[in-house]
Amino acid sequence: MTEKCLIGSLHDFPQGEVRASMLADGTVVAVFNVEGNVYVTADRCTHGEASLSDEGKLCGRLVECPWHYGTFDVTTGAPVGLPCSVALKTYAVTLEGNDVYAQDVA
Ligand code: FES
Repeated sequence: MTEKCLIGSLHDFPQGEVRASMLADGTVVAVFNVEGNVYVTADRCTHGEASLSDEGKLCGRLVECPWHYGTFDVTTGAPVGLPCSVALKTYAVTLEGNDVYAQDVA
């Protein structure tokens, strides 16, 4: 488990969209706002090297990878559409006021 890391303000993550942020160790993560709830996953698709925050399309709780159109449930990291078969790493999210924190709890 690592220390929780401030990744931005709630205002930085509009509802229904994905944005990039960075952890203290330089790891780039994808930040999703699904109906007002924030989820953080690894930025790189597990099928290839596509950046989900850069070109991924969020539809409900699913993000579609821009390269081969695989999909993941961003609330769990689970792969739900081929060719993706390996889950995305997920991070625990906490809010303190408008500050959004992510933490690697694996
Ligand atoms: S790189 Fe994401 S589906 Fe292939």
